[in-house]
Amino acid sequence: MCGIVGYCGKKNATDIIIHGLKNLEYRGYDSAGISVITKDSIKTIKSVGKLDKLEEVYKSNPIKGNVGIGHTRWATHGNVNLENAHPHLNSKNTISLVHNGVIDNYLELKEELEKEGYKFKSKTDTEVIVQLIDFYYNGNLLNAVLKTVKRLVGSYALGVVCNDNPSELIAVRNNCPLIVGFAEDGFIISSEISSIIENTNKVVYMDNKEIAQFNLNNTYKFFNYNLDEIEKEIETMDLNKDSISKNGFEHYMLKEIFEQPDAIRNLLDKRVINGKINLGESFFTAEEIKEFEKIYIIACGTAFHAGEIAKFAIQNFTGRQVQVEIASEFNYNQKFVDDKTLAIFVSQSGETADTLLALEEAKKLSAKTLAIVNAQNSTMTKQADKVMYCYCGPEISVASTKAFTTQLILLYLLALDMAEKLGTLSEDKIKSYLDELKTIPERISEILERKDNFRNIAEELKNQESVFYTGRGIDFTTAKEGALKLKEVSYIHTEAFASGELKHGSIALIDDSTKVIAIISQEHTAKKTAINLEELTARGASIYTITDFDDNTIKQNSKEVIKFARTTDFFAPLLSVIPAQLIAYYTSLARGNDVDKPRNLAKAVTVE
Ligand code: M6R
Repeated sequence: MCGIVGYCGKKNATDIIIHGLKNLEYRGYDSAGISVITKDSIKTIKSVGKLDKLEEVYKSNPIKGNVGIGHTRWATHGNVNLENAHPHLNSKNTISLVHNGVIDNYLELKEELEKEGYKFKSKTDTEVIVQLIDFYYNGNLLNAVLKTVKRLVGSYALGVVCNDNPSELIAVRNNCPLIVGFAEDGFIISSEISSIIENTNKVVYMDNKEIAQFNLNNTYKFFNYNLDEIEKEIETMDLNKDSISKNGFEHYMLKEIFEQPDAIRNLLDKRVINGKINLGESFFTAEEIKEFEKIYIIACGTAFHAGEIAKFAIQNFTGRQVQVEIASEFNYNQKFVDDKTLAIFVSQSGETADTLLALEEAKKLSAKTLAIVNAQNSTMTKQADKVMYCYCGPEISVASTKAFTTQLILLYLLALDMAEKLGTLSEDKIKSYLDELKTIPERISEILERKDNFRNIAEELKNQESVFYTGRGIDFTTAKEGALKLKEVSYIHTEAFASGELKHGSIALIDDSTKVIAIISQEHTAKKTAINLEELTARGASIYTITDFDDNTIKQNSKEVIKFARTTDFFAPLLSVIPAQLIAYYTSLARGNDVDKPRNLAKAVTVE
């Protein structure tokens, strides 16, 4: 998705901005550009494709200046080309702007400006913003930007510079993240912490409808849209350069898979204190939980799978029915949401547009909202009534791994906390579940030690056109996650089938070239799924079975059995997903793909 970086300070802005944009690369983009204020004018360079191309342009045409803005664009309005790439400038080339977000009323504004004689070079909504600033500009950039943003409907984070005010950088936020870093040499604005952390750990998270003005003389001001000056607290981040480095791993995906034992351990240490679940003092009280008549979990992609898995635990522990919905579908479904509904939103980034819209919708219907999020201070955390953080550190690889397992941990803790408050599980039972969760990190490490085994499996899968996943109940939902992981990084067609559904159609696809990955971890379904394996091998399929059972039918029907330590059925996905993550990683590697930045994907999907 689009990313913004801006700089106003003593160093060369171009270097800081290009380096910052590189740290945003993983979000996904298809063109990039920068504008820097030089002695005589605003100099802008753009390129289509990777940032290396922008660097080549820069090397043959060095730009020096202390104030500038940069952008990586993931096309929404208009094709991928230089005209549509940011920054966008007014026709006099005196004002330059970068934008993250979507302007809903840009066509009306464009028509209005065209009537005033404005001409447009691009097909973007962004060019309308800069032309509108030009329209309002009478020597005061801050005022012109303010008048402009008041006319915009939609989401935006903006960085603006102007030739007439060469020492000034303006930043605005509304429903798109924008963070300000306070370095010794100056100010950095960015969509993300990752392009700030190498310069400073002192930051301000801008809130919606805030506008900031930074000056080369090292002064800054934050305002609301009434131009009242506001005090912002400068926070010190608990992160360092290592949090965004690969730390010796070849890819972020592998590093993040390996971080899971520690991430889960840390999270449990934070949330289970002296053997008791502690979700924070301001968490839902027993009275509030008793009031909930309906529970929804709403999310996208991997976060949705975490919700689907957690549904089994919440329902079983609390006796309450749970409805899990894909955020992008939520708005079209008939909703049974009211003031007695708990709506849980799960998201690594906290910026996923579909999930944010569903949250907005649930709030309109008076639901009590809870966000389970990894990225601190992200938009979702500001909009939900309550927040639970995954605390697993920045997840940089597009394929979500450690966020998934930590989301699951939080959802299990939530299920247990609710059960305790509702009195549906005994104290002893809750304690035994917590003790079981504590064993998970060690058991994940045991699987990780066998990583070479997964490299071999990947070699056997890498030339397949299709690979199928199968399982029953909870295992089916983990299978869906395994299939998503494999397809997104390997580009092999992958689907997950509910084992019991195979006979109702999908088994027609099976022949002696088919490879299937089965997940069997549930006491009450293991036998049945093992019989489904027989049906598959009878049609020639080769099966790799991820299981915690020592079962002859499974062994006889599996080309390879991938064992993991037996745990409570509800928690088994925390272990069975690890082989699936590693198989996906090594298959992507074996196919020579860009593992961390798979084609066509973005890390945070900030458009619907
Ligand atoms: O940031 P979110 O958790 O809201 O993102 C949701 C999905 O876009 C995300 O999980 C996506 O499916 C990943 N690429 C999966 O690995």
